[in-house]
Amino acid sequence: MPLKKTLKFPEGFLWGTSSSAYQLEGGNLNNWTEWEQANCQRFAEEAAVKNSNIPASLKDELKKPNNYICGRACDSYNRYEEDFDLAVKMNNNAVRLGVEWSRIEPEEGKWKVGEIEHYKKVLQAAKQRNLKTIVTLWHWPMPLWLEKSNKRGGWIDKNVASYFARYAGKLAGELGGLVDYWVPLNEPMCLIGFGYILGVHPPGRKKDLFGAIKVFNNFVKAHIAGYRAIHNILPDSKVGFSCIVDYFEPARKWNLLDPIVVIIARYVHHRRLLNKISGYLDFIGLNYYFHNKLSWLPPFKVNENKEINDMGWEVYPEGIYHVLKYLSKFKKPIIITENGIADDDDNQRSQFIINHLKYVHQAIREGVDVRGYMHWSLLDNFEWAWGYGPKFGLYSVDRKTFERKARPSASAYADICKNNRILID
Ligand code: FCB
Repeated sequence: MPLKKTLKFPEGFLWGTSSSAYQLEGGNLNNWTEWEQANCQRFAEEAAVKNSNIPASLKDELKKPNNYICGRACDSYNRYEEDFDLAVKMNNNAVRLGVEWSRIEPEEGKWKVGEIEHYKKVLQAAKQRNLKTIVTLWHWPMPLWLEKSNKRGGWIDKNVASYFARYAGKLAGELGGLVDYWVPLNEPMCLIGFGYILGVHPPGRKKDLFGAIKVFNNFVKAHIAGYRAIHNILPDSKVGFSCIVDYFEPARKWNLLDPIVVIIARYVHHRRLLNKISGYLDFIGLNYYFHNKLSWLPPFKVNENKEINDMGWEVYPEGIYHVLKYLSKFKKPIIITENGIADDDDNQRSQFIINHLKYVHQAIREGVDVRGYMHWSLLDNFEWAWGYGPKFGLYSVDRKTFERKARPSASAYADICKNNRILID
């Protein structure tokens, strides 16, 4: 057997998994819960006629309205200790998880003490297992009182940034020492795209460009206000941001217009936002999944798709290297807060992780300050407008018993985390 090459990661590198409150906890009540009830039938009907490159087994799941109801999710609200035990079993030293705004402030300005206590217990359980905690405060759902304050959704509300800062400040006071890294917002640009342009996430607006611009400005304000609110209470805290950065390339480099489309796409997709908030970041959280080759002519996206995941997303490990190099210009530590693959039969996941880490390692060798890697995700969970179809978990979850079962990739990841290295050919 040919000898493998060892690529070591820096001492103290953070290894873990990533998740969000709504996708795992179960039993929530917020704008998503209502959205699912109102739209599950439509999603199922649309999926039945959609003709995309996804496996037949997944297509069948997508035709069922119930697939789109989050319900009890992975029941992690009750099973968080079991989940942390799985993380420990995989030799993780960190975990990214979320707290759910709608639980903590179900009515305007009224804190649910019991829920704050619950999250304290969750974080203490992580700490008892020596896991560093990366905590997201907003990962898409909104409390109903806020969502309904405006018929175009809560993020349009002129006071949303101050509501968010009040919530962030409250949590800084309550959860303080239990949080190592704060992520006020996760991927705001996705909410803008899915919720204001495509209409597949709440508030379900389509092509609402003015709405999108307003919401964008509110996100900038909310991030800055949240950053300040946390720092006012915890001056030494580390407050970052989880940014989706897809890697865009021109379909044809020699064509004059394709590169221009790429410049615009990068700007709109993440650069404008990062530029606006870059003075208020102690670290950058990178969420990287795929790459797209763009053309100025229809169909606009012309990927080679040599390898795709179960959702048709192109697998392109090299892209993470390029986006890390770009992010390094902000001169902040970077944590990869999401990277993962929908891969039900687990044929691709282990290699996916190694291939991406190979490029992360290359970026580190070239001086990019990457501090950790959080794989999305520990468990199969509720994948938003795709429901339970896509399987992102290192562990599968039985939808009836909630039993967690390791996929082979869980032991591959455990080996990487234990030895702080990857082995490549
Ligand atoms: C990211 C989201 C996360 C999950 C993964 C697959 O964009 O932040 O909640 O859905 O995609």
